[in-house]
Amino acid sequence: MKNNILLLPGDGVGPEVMSEAVKLIDCFNSHKLTNINYEYSDIGSIALDNYNAPLPEITLTKALKADCVLLGAIGTPKHDNNPRELKPEYGLLCLRKALNLYVNVRPIMSFEALSDSSTLKSEVISNMDILIIRELIGDIYFGEPRGFNTDSDDVYAYNTMKYSKNEITRIANFAFDAAMHRSKKVTSVDKANVLETSQLWRETVTDIASSNYNKINLNHMYIDNAAMQLIKNPKQFDVILTSNMFGDILSDEASMLTGSIGMLPSASLSNKYALYEPIHGSAPDIANKGTVNPLAMILSCAMMFEFTFNNIKLSNLIKNAVNDVLKNGIMTQDISASNDYISTSEMGDKIVEYVSKSVK
Ligand code: IPM
Ligand code: MG
Repeated sequence: MKNNILLLPGDGVGPEVMSEAVKLIDCFNSHKLTNINYEYSDIGSIALDNYNAPLPEITLTKALKADCVLLGAIGTPKHDNNPRELKPEYGLLCLRKALNLYVNVRPIMSFEALSDSSTLKSEVISNMDILIIRELIGDIYFGEPRGFNTDSDDVYAYNTMKYSKNEITRIANFAFDAAMHRSKKVTSVDKANVLETSQLWRETVTDIASSNYNKINLNHMYIDNAAMQLIKNPKQFDVILTSNMFGDILSDEASMLTGSIGMLPSASLSNKYALYEPIHGSAPDIANKGTVNPLAMILSCAMMFEFTFNNIKLSNLIKNAVNDVLKNGIMTQDISASNDYISTSEMGDKIVEYVSKSVK
């Protein structure tokens, strides 16, 4: 029975949203719906302060032992100018790599109550339900060689965009399997008109679809066009399958369709490990003000119950509570259309209150 999770609050607004997730887990434990043990560790800027490493050995050891990891957010401006290995983000990238988290699942769904919070017209985004499947441990993020060159007259920097057929195959299989449980439509996003990695990506994805998933309706789109189509007509998409770099950019763009990046959870998965985190960053400008929206973190818990604990009931309980709270006009600052909003911890309390009502 899985029941050990590692909590990595991290930096900026990370600890604030994590506290609200913990309230929810405590609530489930007290209702005897779960028997979850959790412990904390440091990652990112706080880990640099405490251990001089963005992913300390102790955190990695605990992560490898836990059934899954919940993460808040990473990064403070304080460490922005550090060399790469001493940047907070490097800790997260190393953790993803060490746990082999090659799949990143980012659901982009619209909440009816928030249709006025998006900058897009409500008819464009209503009932939108997109699943972005982003490859997470390859591509230009990890490709070697990389670095700065100091030997020439001019200084230059370089990175390597690289994908192997195996890396593309495993993420494509995940996306096709996910699509089989939805509308069976996959849009694979690449830049095959320019990049070799994308040519291999497109060929591989096409081959897998035609050999193993003949029920899937697959189409291909260049990243630049996909970025435009996402704003023009987001409802044409169901599952979006894409690489690490393109997925990073598209998912931030897509989050705005929902009204706030503060609403979107994510799951990073391998065959053995899982990490759940809101897709918003550490937002240092609003940290410690009690204004951050904890719902992305709370919905990340819903994903944890679905994927790690195979408990759809609790996952739905959380999602319904979020929906009901929003429907009743209870909002944090980022999603409220008026001056009437509640704080981070009040929102966490509301979710606990709604969840408790339905388990009694
Ligand atoms: C994300 C973030 C990370 C990424 C950063 C913090 C390294 O932007 O999860 O989307 O680029 O993957
Ligand atoms: Mg990002």
